[in-house]
Order: sequence, then C-alpha cells, then structure tokens
Amino acid sequence: MTQDELKALVGRAALAYVVPGTVVGVGTGSTVNCFIDALATMKDRIAGAVSSSVQSTARLRGHGITVLDANEVDHIPVYIDGADEIDHRGFMIKGGGAALTREKIVADLADRFVCIADESKLVDVMGRYPLPVEVITMAAAQVARRFTTTYGGQATVRAGVTTDNGNLILDVRGLQITDPMAMETEVNQWPGVVTVGIFARHRARVCLLGTSQGVRTLDFD
Ligand code: 5RP
Repeated sequence: MTQDELKALVGRAALAYVVPGTVVGVGTGSTVNCFIDALATMKDRIAGAVSSSVQSTARLRGHGITVLDANEVDHIPVYIDGADEIDHRGFMIKGGGAALTREKIVADLADRFVCIADESKLVDVMGRYPLPVEVITMAAAQVARRFTTTYGGQATVRAGVTTDNGNLILDVRGLQITDPMAMETEVNQWPGVVTVGIFARHRARVCLLGTSQGVRTLDFD
C-alpha cells in the first residue's frame, strides 16, 4: 500500500471513535484531510466540528460540516489529528503543517486524543523530525540561540511560513527527546515561545497506525 492509501485507511478507521451527536475536534494535515472526507459520510450524525486550522475549516465547510468556534465549546469527547512522530508512550511531535498552537488548544478541550498516522511516524526516540516551535517574530533569534545552549539543537526559521496566528515557525534539528514532558514544560516557559510542538501533556491515548497489514491500534491508556 502507498503512504496515501495508508492515510486513507486510518482516516476511515477514525470514524469509529467519533461520538454521534457530539462535536468532534479536527486536526490538520494530509492524514486529517482523509478523515474529514470520511467524516462527511456521517455529517448528519454529529453536532459539528471544532477545527485546528484555516485549512481544515475550509475543507470541513466544503463538505457542509458545521464548524464551531473553540470559544463556543467547553468540552469535546474526542480530538482526531495526525503527527509527525509518535513514540511508544503516545508522546508526539506535531506542527509539520504549522498548526501546532490551535491543535494543542483543541486537544486541550478533548477527553481523548486519537492519533492517525502511517507506520513511518512511529519512533523509539523523538527528534529525527525537526521540532516545530511557534514563536513571536521578535524572539526568533533569541529562542534559536537558547535551543543551542540548552539542548544543542540547531533552529532555523521555516522559510515563507506565517502561522494562522501571524507568527513564525522555528524548526529545530539535532534533538534527542528522551524526556518529552520536561522539554515541553521548559521550552514553553521561554519568552516569545507561543507553543512548542511536543505533545506530552496532550499525548495520544490511542493511535491508529496504518501498516501494510492493515490498521494497528496502539492503546496508551
Ligand atoms: C500539522 C500537524 C500534522 O498533524 C502533522 O504534520 C502530520 O501531517 P500529515 O498527516 O500531513 O503527515 O501537526 O501541524
């Protein structure tokens, strides 16, 4: 199976985690696009969606799915999103699509994060994928230097990208993220950091992993 076929497979499999009659949290990315297309087949059985990006909002509305503002919702049962890396504890790197801040906000509304990914995303130790960090523009160089002095990572500004919130993305290479919880906590304290793309506090509870043998379910609860 191709990577696109694996993404379509897990996108459809995620429908089983949607709770009928409720609002579903929707992430961002090519795997989530497959989920959104599948969600359209049950749009009359959900109360709507909360979206993590302008891109996903447009796709949801294109299918006639109601999109609610996060401020209108105080709680959702499930949030479904992809990942750039996921480890065997459900910790993730996210932000390859620059939507990490809104993704974390919607994930925070949810009881359960269901990750959908192809098997190339499963790793033992995170960090081979450059860690995305959303930063306020005036702090970009300062945060980049701090990554080098604190963790030995090399941060570069992602060229040509402004987030939905009007900020920059730093991509940090050369990290070995052995303690995701500690790094997330530390980096989020640095002035000018909006969100670090480590999802440890908001880790996945379930991962639907697309493999050539079919969907493998990893349960982290
Ligand atoms: C966007 C994300 C995505 O979930 C992540 O980049 C995975 O994307 P894809 O499904 O296209 O591989 O975090 O900010």
